[in-house]
Amino acid sequence: MPSLHHARAHKAGAFRHPAAYDRLARRARRLHARVVADVAAAGLADGARVLDAGTGPGRVPLAIAAARPGLRVEGIDLSGEMIEHARRLAVDAGVRDRVGFTVSDVADLSYPDGTFDLIVSTLSQHHWADVGGGIRELRRVVKPTGQIWIYDIRFALRRAEAAARAVSPRCDVGKEVVRTGPLSLGLIARLTIRPTG
Ligand SMILES: C[S@@+](CC[C@H](N)C(=O)[O-])C[C@H]1O[C@@H](n2cnc3c(N)ncnc32)[C@H](O)[C@@H]1O
Repeated sequence: MPSLHHARAHKAGAFRHPAAYDRLARRARRLHARVVADVAAAGLADGARVLDAGTGPGRVPLAIAAARPGLRVEGIDLSGEMIEHARRLAVDAGVRDRVGFTVSDVADLSYPDGTFDLIVSTLSQHHWADVGGGIRELRRVVKPTGQIWIYDIRFALRRAEAAARAVSPRCDVGKEVVRTGPLSLGLIARLTIRPTG
């Protein structure tokens, strides 16, 4: 599923055309639903802050906001076109006051240290030019009590896993296969990074 989604997206230049990407991204809807369910089950208090890194057209933050209206959700993406599209969707959904979207490189975030209670990222990490820098920044902006969940193609997560162990010795790092349905091939995994001190 993700490789098809990916190859076609590139072929169609969809990463520069958010509406086209958004149509292709329907293939990932089961994974998105799983991410949203995981966030909804995380036991976060109202007012907690969640970041989606590499948000694309912002489908995950918008679905989190619908599932957990008390959370403050933000999405960042390198692509200005994706962020413009995500902002339009937030206006259409009437959630612009509690879902924010910002153009940013995951390896160069403008948030203060310890801003977020939970950080998620879906099918984006394998695009990051500087995986070590991305992991370092996510580690910096997550609260000491927070967690980082990176969902991506299982084999592509090796780089992030190695980077997490290298840049964050005071973290628990774990990886688990994510199955999104009865026909799931187990190609997707979640890397969990949890500060320990
Ligand atoms: C395959 S799309 C996934 C989008 C969304 N998370 C989803 O699941 O539909 C990958 C996204 O990662 C973004 N991206 C790539 N490198 C990035 C970086 N260094 N910092 C932030 N976003 C990045 C791309 O612009 C693209 O929107």
